[in-house]
Amino acid sequence: MDSIPANRRLWNQISNAYQHEHDPQIGAAPRLWGMYSIPDAHLHALGDVTGKRVLELGCGAGQWSRALAAEGATVVGLDLSEAQLAAAARAMGAARYPLVQGAAEQLPFAADSFDLVFCDFGGLSWAPPHLAVPQAARILRRGGRLVFNVASPWFEACYDEAASRVTTTLQQDYFRLNTIAEGDGATSYQLTYGDWVKVLRGAGLIIDDLIEPRPELGTPNGYNETDPPDWAHRWPAELLWVTHKP
Ligand SMILES: C[S@@+](CC[C@H](N)C(=O)[O-])C[C@H]1O[C@@H](n2cnc3c(N)ncnc32)[C@H](O)[C@@H]1O
Repeated sequence: MDSIPANRRLWNQISNAYQHEHDPQIGAAPRLWGMYSIPDAHLHALGDVTGKRVLELGCGAGQWSRALAAEGATVVGLDLSEAQLAAAARAMGAARYPLVQGAAEQLPFAADSFDLVFCDFGGLSWAPPHLAVPQAARILRRGGRLVFNVASPWFEACYDEAASRVTTTLQQDYFRLNTIAEGDGATSYQLTYGDWVKVLRGAGLIIDDLIEPRPELGTPNGYNETDPPDWAHRWPAELLWVTHKP
């Protein structure tokens, strides 16, 4: 299934409202991961990027790219949506970096050209992983890393559509998570743990770590209601994969 046109349409439609609502949280400080804004300094997923050639896959308004460019990385921000890229252009800091329109499924870059490909609920949540992961692996140089944060299968399986919240009850079949309809043909993607391992290993990547970001008690979720409010302190809401190309 080709979700590129519908996902592009969706993000062009919602970009302004999304940035209005979420940019204050995502951009509050450099290097904040996920729905709970957990600092990378606590999770140690990215490490030092000084002098590294870095691609943010689905950069949105580029809050991450802006921070890494300021740290001395040579960053490229790629996104499918021109509205999101326009937001990134408006938010760019003194350390300029190029923005490229493209899809994680069909990356417009040469093989072996990046030291780090990463995203936070970006291209690996919004493109079929069996297409996007091999593309990311192709453009990494040997030793280069693919690091990405996505929702956990726990979070998705416990999401109650009717109540619009994450609950303590299994609501969806684990083995049928796969694609999530986001309206008008737009689609996000969710794999089981086993399928993530298959897709990553199948693309020739080595899995170095699977970090399960755990917010402190009382940390708000900027995106979803959860019941109980401390759901993600008790169960893993996100998966932060750390891999490299041997
Ligand atoms: C939730 S945002 C992630 C950006 C940022 N980390 C954030 O949290 O706002 C998802 C981004 O993925 C982009 N996107 C959607 N489908 C994509 C695709 N197939 N390839 C690349 N980017 C895509 C959207 O345009 C959007 O900017």
